[in-house]
Amino acid sequence: MNQPSPLASWNGEIMPLTEVRVPVLDRAFLFGDAIYEALRVYEGRPFLVDEHMARLRRSLDQIRIEADVDRIERRLFELLERHPVRSGLVYLQVTRGVAPRTHYFPANPTEPNELIYVSPLDDDPHARHRETGVDVITFDDLRWKRCDIKSVNLLANCMAAQAAREAGCAEAILVAADGAITEGSHTSVFGVRDGAVMTAPLARNILPGITRSLVVELADRAGIPIREEPLSRDRLSEVDELFLTGTTAEVLPVTRVDDQPIGSGQPGEVTRQIAAAYRGHVADWLAGAPAPAR
Ligand code: PDD
Repeated sequence: MNQPSPLASWNGEIMPLTEVRVPVLDRAFLFGDAIYEALRVYEGRPFLVDEHMARLRRSLDQIRIEADVDRIERRLFELLERHPVRSGLVYLQVTRGVAPRTHYFPANPTEPNELIYVSPLDDDPHARHRETGVDVITFDDLRWKRCDIKSVNLLANCMAAQAAREAGCAEAILVAADGAITEGSHTSVFGVRDGAVMTAPLARNILPGITRSLVVELADRAGIPIREEPLSRDRLSEVDELFLTGTTAEVLPVTRVDDQPIGSGQPGEVTRQIAAAYRGHVADWLAGAPAPAR
């Protein structure tokens, strides 16, 4: 089936994504001076909008970009009304705007530039992986010290993801200098040991994942103990199960790390239980969410 082309809102003006033109002096182009979000669209409806808008607001505040997040949210819904997507992804980016190139924040930049686009998402490859589990590699966490800010500076994440791809793996999990696993190149990482779920605590070295937070809540509701403590690279052999979470990954079992099996080498029971709770939560939300206005 032919999928509809991605549609964009560039500062509120709706156009095909391929027609958006960004000025070269935009600080996102020169410095990566921008914040982004990625939201999942199910049945044409954006999932966890309030949570993504709250994180967007926080990231913008942290780097002092003044943007109207309520207006961005309205524009996101306008865009979705204009696009026939059912299973999709919304990408949203706010840059500090255009100004003569100086490292310090310019006194008079243009207004922030805002890009929102919606594109169809083929979930089939992920759906297969959720059944079989995936292999991952470990990779040095080469990133800066404010990974809690969702900035577009993703070079270290891209290098890690590329290393995973070259190794035939789905993701790279990042290991800090002290041996602690922080997160994946574009996912959060969870382990299961003796029936309890473990994940790195929220701090400046990881992104506060929206899916992470939902999974912590769902596990808690299911009576599964949660321990927010770092997993360590050296003790991965003691972990019974490992899984990744993220907006597009959802809950993805990991069966091998650096060619070594995790637990039985098959997706684990606790992971399956949490993945089922996640799908159930999405289904309940869809059943209760207002229909898209079209
Ligand atoms: N990535 N950690 C990192 C470094 C990420 O980039 C992401 C998301 C996550 C998971 O966060 P969430 O559950 O809020 O999606 C964790 C998005 C999807 C991306 O870069 O496209």
